[in-house]
Amino acid sequence: MLRVAIIGGSGYVGGELLRLLLFHPVVEVTHVTSERLSERPVASVHPNLRRLTQLQFTPINKVEPCDVLFLALRHGEAARRIEELAQLAPRIVDCSADFRLRDAATYERWYSETHPAPDWLDKFVYGLPEVHREELRNTNYVSGVGCNATASNLALLPLARAGLLDPSRDIVIEVKVGSSEGGAQANDSSHHPERSGAVRSFAPTGHRHTAEITQVTGAERVHLSITSVELVRGALATAHVFPKERVTEKDLWRAYRATYSDEPFVRIIRERQGTYRLPEPKILAGSNYADVGFALDEATGRVVSICALDNLMKGAAGTAVQCMNLMCALDERAGLEFPGLHPI
Ligand SMILES: NC(=O)c1ccc[n+]([C@@H]2O[C@H](COP(=O)([O-])OP(=O)(O)OC[C@H]3O[C@@H](n4cnc5c(N)ncnc54)[C@H](OP(=O)(O)O)[C@@H]3O)[C@@H](O)[C@H]2O)c1
Repeated sequence: MLRVAIIGGSGYVGGELLRLLLFHPVVEVTHVTSERLSERPVASVHPNLRRLTQLQFTPINKVEPCDVLFLALRHGEAARRIEELAQLAPRIVDCSADFRLRDAATYERWYSETHPAPDWLDKFVYGLPEVHREELRNTNYVSGVGCNATASNLALLPLARAGLLDPSRDIVIEVKVGSSEGGAQANDSSHHPERSGAVRSFAPTGHRHTAEITQVTGAERVHLSITSVELVRGALATAHVFPKERVTEKDLWRAYRATYSDEPFVRIIRERQGTYRLPEPKILAGSNYADVGFALDEATGRVVSICALDNLMKGAAGTAVQCMNLMCALDERAGLEFPGLHPI
């Protein structure tokens, strides 16, 4: 059994990691941390886990050495404490944005601060199995992925791999997101009367995940807008791409199949009829699947590439467990092969 600890286990991503890892076939969860809630039962914060675990929260300084450490801390904490945390386990999967970008200058540009541990950046592999599978098999340190970046990257990847992204043309991506992206700490804008029913332009320009999209796809002229909508879980990326050359439906099918036919957690969704003809986050809640589809506007040549996922799963904890499986030479699908709910 792999002995695993979750650092920052009281948040939404920490809770989701716990839900997955408690039922993972070769994992034993040894510690779940919270500084605020030390000694409280973890199920008092994650009520879906009542009677399924007797664990109590511990502070980080009480965590004993283990095999794998999952970090689900507030932004910046993992980087500030990485030397101390790395003493606790030979392998780390971090869900935060602290180690996602490959160079410190890019980090500083997007996060408006000097990176607290720049020497660690090249030790981490970006935790997107669909792009970095082989590197993930050969590393001890995995960074998290941005949920909006993952929805965007999975939408663009087939076009990037087919050589269809034109560096001289702009790519516009609109991502609609649910409220759990903001984490478990409430604030004025997450107060129910303010958040419920909202269709709010959260970040029309300048969203930090743009850097991850450029890093993964190589596309420089990416314009990302984030809109908060009436969902708790879920993200839907709609990418508008004018490819290098005119493409046909057939070309697009070929590109999407070449990229995703063998992927265990990405499904190509493009049906001719029915309600769920294209990807939709609603039916992915709680699952590690990302659904990807496309539409072609033949009059203008525009390709609309769409990806739906659960931000807490394929956008965070699910992918993190998938990466642990790869890093530990386990079946990549272990503990993750279950569908979302329908109806929900
Ligand atoms: N929410 C998403 O959809 C999503 C998706 C992808 C990645 N992420 C990333 O995953 C990480 C966790 O996100 P979340 O949504 O789970 O956030 P969250 O609900 O706000 O949880 C944050 C966690 O960090 C801990 N923490 C905060 N300040 C701390 C400190 N000074 N020292 C030690 N622990 C501290 C909290 O523990 P206490 O109980 O001690 O406060 C809590 O367990 C973030 O870095 C986020 O960017 C989130």
